[in-house]
Amino acid sequence: MEINENIIETLGKITYGLYVLTTKKGEEINGMIASWVSQVSFSPPLVMVGVRKNRYSHKMIDETGIFALNVLAKEDINLVSRFKGPDPKEKFKGLKWKTKATGAPILEETLAYMDCKLTDSVNTGDHTIFIGQIIEADILKEGVPVTSLDYGKVYLGQS
Ligand SMILES: Cc1cc2nc3c(=O)[nH]c(=O)nc-3n(C[C@H](O)[C@H](O)[C@H](O)COP(=O)(O)O)c2cc1C
Repeated sequence: MEINENIIETLGKITYGLYVLTTKKGEEINGMIASWVSQVSFSPPLVMVGVRKNRYSHKMIDETGIFALNVLAKEDINLVSRFKGPDPKEKFKGLKWKTKATGAPILEETLAYMDCKLTDSVNTGDHTIFIGQIIEADILKEGVPVTSLDYGKVYLGQS
Protein backbone atom coordinates (compact mmCIF):
# COMPACT_ATOMS: atom_id res chain seq x y z
CA MET A 1 0.00 0.00 0.00
CA GLU A 2 1.20 3.52 -0.87
CA ILE A 3 1.87 5.98 1.95
CA ASN A 4 -0.36 9.03 1.40
CA GLU A 5 -0.67 12.50 2.97
CA ASN A 6 -3.36 11.37 5.43
CA ILE A 7 -1.09 8.66 6.76
CA ILE A 8 1.87 11.05 7.04
CA GLU A 9 -0.18 13.76 8.77
CA THR A 10 -1.74 11.26 11.17
CA LEU A 11 1.66 9.80 12.07
CA GLY A 12 2.65 13.38 12.90
CA LYS A 13 0.13 13.33 15.77
CA ILE A 14 2.11 10.69 17.70
CA THR A 15 4.08 12.31 20.55
CA TYR A 16 7.58 11.23 21.52
CA GLY A 17 10.38 11.95 23.96
CA LEU A 18 13.75 13.06 22.57
CA TYR A 19 16.93 11.16 23.40
CA VAL A 20 20.57 11.12 22.43
CA LEU A 21 21.34 7.56 21.39
CA THR A 22 25.07 6.95 21.87
CA THR A 23 27.43 4.12 21.13
CA LYS A 24 31.17 3.45 21.20
CA LYS A 25 33.46 1.16 19.24
CA GLY A 26 37.05 1.20 20.47
CA GLU A 27 38.02 4.89 20.55
CA GLU A 28 35.21 5.90 18.21
CA ILE A 29 32.07 7.44 19.70
CA ASN A 30 28.84 8.53 18.07
CA GLY A 31 25.51 9.96 19.09
CA MET A 32 22.26 10.75 17.28
CA ILE A 33 18.89 12.14 18.20
CA ALA A 34 16.35 9.33 18.49
CA SER A 35 12.66 9.67 19.25
CA TRP A 36 11.26 6.27 18.34
CA VAL A 37 11.93 4.97 21.84
CA SER A 38 9.80 2.90 24.20
CA GLN A 39 10.01 0.57 27.17
CA VAL A 40 9.02 -2.93 26.03
CA SER A 41 9.45 -5.11 29.14
CA PHE A 42 9.47 -4.57 32.90
CA SER A 43 11.35 -7.73 33.93
CA PRO A 44 13.89 -7.86 32.47
CA PRO A 45 13.90 -4.10 31.85
CA LEU A 46 13.99 -3.72 28.08
CA VAL A 47 13.78 -0.64 25.87
CA MET A 48 13.58 -0.32 22.10
CA VAL A 49 14.78 2.28 19.66
CA GLY A 50 13.94 2.44 15.96
CA VAL A 51 17.00 3.33 13.88
CA ARG A 52 16.92 3.91 10.14
CA LYS A 53 19.18 1.49 8.33
CA ASN A 54 21.34 4.19 6.72
CA ARG A 55 22.40 5.76 10.05
CA TYR A 56 26.04 5.45 11.02
CA SER A 57 24.80 4.60 14.54
CA HIS A 58 22.96 1.63 13.04
CA LYS A 59 26.23 0.11 11.84
CA MET A 60 27.96 0.81 15.15
CA ILE A 61 25.18 -0.68 17.32
CA ASP A 62 25.05 -3.72 15.03
CA GLU A 63 28.79 -4.22 15.45
CA THR A 64 29.16 -3.45 19.16
CA GLY A 65 25.88 -4.67 20.67
CA ILE A 66 25.77 -1.72 23.05
CA PHE A 67 24.00 1.62 23.26
CA ALA A 68 22.92 4.25 25.77
CA LEU A 69 19.82 6.41 25.74
CA ASN A 70 20.44 9.85 27.22
CA VAL A 71 17.17 11.52 28.24
CA LEU A 72 17.08 15.20 27.28
CA ALA A 73 15.53 17.75 29.63
CA LYS A 74 13.52 20.67 28.28
CA GLU A 75 16.54 22.90 28.97
CA ASP A 76 18.76 20.58 26.85
CA ILE A 77 16.72 21.14 23.68
CA ASN A 78 19.69 23.02 22.16
CA LEU A 79 21.51 19.66 21.96
CA VAL A 80 19.06 18.48 19.30
CA SER A 81 20.63 20.50 16.50
CA ARG A 82 24.15 19.17 17.05
CA PHE A 83 23.13 15.51 17.48
CA LYS A 84 20.91 15.46 14.41
CA GLY A 85 23.90 16.43 12.29
CA PRO A 86 26.29 14.10 10.47
CA ASP A 87 29.68 15.07 12.01
CA PRO A 88 30.56 12.91 15.07
CA LYS A 89 33.34 15.30 16.18
CA GLU A 90 31.01 18.32 16.26
CA LYS A 91 28.42 16.36 18.17
CA PHE A 92 30.48 15.90 21.33
CA LYS A 93 32.53 19.12 21.13
CA GLY A 94 32.66 20.81 24.55
CA LEU A 95 30.37 18.25 26.17
CA LYS A 96 31.33 16.23 29.23
CA TRP A 97 30.68 12.52 28.98
CA LYS A 98 31.66 9.40 30.86
CA THR A 99 31.21 5.69 30.45
CA LYS A 100 29.46 3.20 32.70
CA ALA A 101 28.82 -0.54 32.38
CA THR A 102 28.72 -0.92 28.58
CA GLY A 103 31.14 1.84 27.52
CA ALA A 104 28.56 3.83 25.54
CA PRO A 105 28.89 7.60 26.20
CA ILE A 106 26.77 9.00 29.03
CA LEU A 107 26.24 12.74 28.57
CA GLU A 108 26.76 14.36 31.95
CA GLU A 109 24.49 17.35 31.42
CA THR A 110 21.37 15.42 30.42
CA LEU A 111 18.49 14.41 32.69
CA ALA A 112 19.05 10.66 32.94
CA TYR A 113 20.57 7.71 31.14
CA MET A 114 19.91 4.07 30.34
CA ASP A 115 23.00 2.02 29.56
CA CYS A 116 21.94 -0.98 27.46
CA LYS A 117 23.16 -4.25 26.04
CA LEU A 118 21.53 -5.28 22.77
CA THR A 119 19.30 -8.34 23.20
CA ASP A 120 17.38 -8.37 19.88
CA SER A 121 17.36 -6.64 16.51
CA VAL A 122 14.10 -6.66 14.59
CA ASN A 123 14.48 -5.97 10.89
CA THR A 124 11.33 -4.06 9.97
CA GLY A 125 10.78 -1.88 6.88
CA ASP A 126 13.41 0.84 6.51
CA HIS A 127 14.30 0.85 10.24
CA THR A 128 15.68 -1.72 12.65
CA ILE A 129 14.20 -1.99 16.12
CA PHE A 130 17.11 -2.41 18.48
CA ILE A 131 15.99 -3.86 21.80
CA GLY A 132 18.35 -3.49 24.74
CA GLN A 133 18.39 -4.64 28.33
CA ILE A 134 19.07 -1.78 30.73
CA ILE A 135 22.22 -2.76 32.61
CA GLU A 136 22.47 0.49 34.52
CA ALA A 137 20.37 3.65 34.72
CA ASP A 138 20.32 6.81 36.79
CA ILE A 139 18.89 10.29 37.10
CA LEU A 140 21.58 12.96 36.72
CA LYS A 141 19.66 16.15 37.54
CA GLU A 142 16.24 17.54 38.32
CA GLY A 143 14.11 18.47 35.33
CA VAL A 144 11.32 17.67 32.92
CA PRO A 145 11.95 15.51 29.82
CA VAL A 146 11.67 17.26 26.48
CA THR A 147 9.09 15.99 24.00
CA SER A 148 8.32 16.40 20.32
CA LEU A 149 5.68 18.95 21.40
CA ASP A 150 8.45 21.22 22.73
CA TYR A 151 10.52 20.64 19.58
CA GLY A 152 7.54 21.46 17.36
CA LYS A 153 8.33 18.75 14.81
CA VAL A 154 7.91 14.98 14.70
CA TYR A 155 10.44 12.57 13.21
CA LEU A 156 8.51 10.57 10.60
CA GLY A 157 11.35 8.30 9.53
CA GLN A 158 11.53 9.81 6.06
CA SER A 159 15.25 10.51 5.65
C1 LIG B 1 13.64 15.23 16.56
C2 LIG B 1 14.39 14.15 15.82
C3 LIG B 1 14.12 12.82 16.08
C4 LIG B 1 14.81 11.81 15.39
N1 LIG B 1 14.52 10.50 15.66
C5 LIG B 1 15.15 9.51 14.98
C6 LIG B 1 14.85 8.13 15.24
O1 LIG B 1 14.07 7.78 16.13
N2 LIG B 1 15.48 7.21 14.46
C7 LIG B 1 16.37 7.52 13.48
O2 LIG B 1 16.91 6.63 12.81
N3 LIG B 1 16.70 8.82 13.24
C8 LIG B 1 16.13 9.81 13.97
N4 LIG B 1 16.47 11.12 13.74
C9 LIG B 1 17.49 11.45 12.71
C10 LIG B 1 18.93 11.27 13.24
O3 LIG B 1 19.12 11.91 14.48
C11 LIG B 1 19.95 11.85 12.22
O4 LIG B 1 19.75 11.28 10.95
C12 LIG B 1 21.40 11.66 12.64
O5 LIG B 1 22.22 12.51 11.83
C13 LIG B 1 21.92 10.23 12.48
O6 LIG B 1 23.29 10.21 12.86
P1 LIG B 1 24.30 9.05 12.44
O7 LIG B 1 24.11 8.79 10.95
O8 LIG B 1 25.65 9.61 12.78
O9 LIG B 1 23.96 7.85 13.27
C14 LIG B 1 15.80 12.15 14.43
C15 LIG B 1 16.10 13.50 14.19
C16 LIG B 1 15.42 14.49 14.88
C17 LIG B 1 15.76 15.93 14.60
